[in-house]
Amino acid sequence: MEKIRLGNSEVKVSPIVFGAWAIGGWMWGGTDDQLALEALKTGFDEGITSIDTAPVYGLGHSEKVVGKFAKEVGREHVEILTKFGWNWEMPRGKALMKGSWPGGPEKDIYSNAGKESIIYEVKQSLQRLQTDYIDLYQLHRPDPNTPVEEMMEACLQLQQEGKIKAFGVSNMSVDLMIRAEKVMDIAASQSPYSMIYRKIENDILPHCIDHNIGILAYSPLQRGLLTGKITSDYPFGEGDHRAKNKFFKEPNRSKTNEFLQKIKPIADGHGITLAQLVINWTIRRGGVTATLVGARNAEQARENAKSMSFMLSEEELRMINEELGKVEIDHEV
Ligand SMILES: NC(=O)c1ccc[n+]([C@@H]2O[C@H](COP(=O)([O-])OP(=O)(O)OC[C@H]3O[C@@H](n4cnc5c(N)ncnc54)[C@H](OP(=O)(O)O)[C@@H]3O)[C@@H](O)[C@H]2O)c1
Repeated sequence: MEKIRLGNSEVKVSPIVFGAWAIGGWMWGGTDDQLALEALKTGFDEGITSIDTAPVYGLGHSEKVVGKFAKEVGREHVEILTKFGWNWEMPRGKALMKGSWPGGPEKDIYSNAGKESIIYEVKQSLQRLQTDYIDLYQLHRPDPNTPVEEMMEACLQLQQEGKIKAFGVSNMSVDLMIRAEKVMDIAASQSPYSMIYRKIENDILPHCIDHNIGILAYSPLQRGLLTGKITSDYPFGEGDHRAKNKFFKEPNRSKTNEFLQKIKPIADGHGITLAQLVINWTIRRGGVTATLVGARNAEQARENAKSMSFMLSEEELRMINEELGKVEIDHEV
């Protein structure tokens, strides 16, 4: 897989980035570290050299697994993307939610992107990741209590100190990005983007194209729904947030599965799976730099990594987009 540069930065990522949220366990009904390490290794062997994680994914757990893996394969062979701004150790304002590491107690999680908190957080992340630099350091979600300029100045300092190579944002509006860019370059913007959720096409995507900011599309499989495996009776494990997620509720689940059945002959024609077709479509959408795809085991990682090995024809893309145009997701369920 040929790596792609993020914006004007020196950081290059694989077009498929390993999404390490689920392997943190929290919100995904638990995790198995051995399977997670095998998934990371298999993805790596297939060309997925970049990994996206965050402190809040299993309250440090995902970063620890990623750090262990990076040490095993050699830090210089992987790109580590992590985040800040949501933490459980530097309280500020009202707690947003509760979370835990596998088997751990529930902790309140706060939004805090203040300077002091960032300086603390980066130290913790570097320790868990067993490294002395982060390739892309991303604000997880804008903090309503911190002026964006204060947050950016702290990140500029981290870059000058060599702790981070580049800065990125996540879930950030265009207005805030414009303010942030006045202090420091934004190398990439991470946003939800899948076949059935394309809100960013209205504003974030065109802004990033115009300003040479990389687009990291997250949840391209719509958290597993777009693999076609989520049947009406799919058994979610305890603590798996998807059981209550709007995309998995009716009528959205059935509508999505009906759509997938319509495009399945295209996947069959290429001898590929629906997941591979969906990832390929997403990555080739104009403006998308890379997709962040989660995987829980080696089999999924291998399958996902092979999503770049075929080309959809113009006619196939037209047919897919025509069917997509008929899918109406109900966001109020
Ligand atoms: N910045 C943010 O706020 C934000 C938010 C969300 C995600 N992200 C990032 O984006 C990454 C990817 O998003 P995501 O994990 O939400 O969703 P996703 O990539 O759309 O879906 C990943 C999940 O789908 C299932 N899956 C993956 N490949 C499969 C395959 N080939 N066959 C069958 N099932 C498969 C796995 O879960 P099961 O096996 O359990 O079904 C996996 O954990 C995250 O890991 C994270 O790094 C960032």
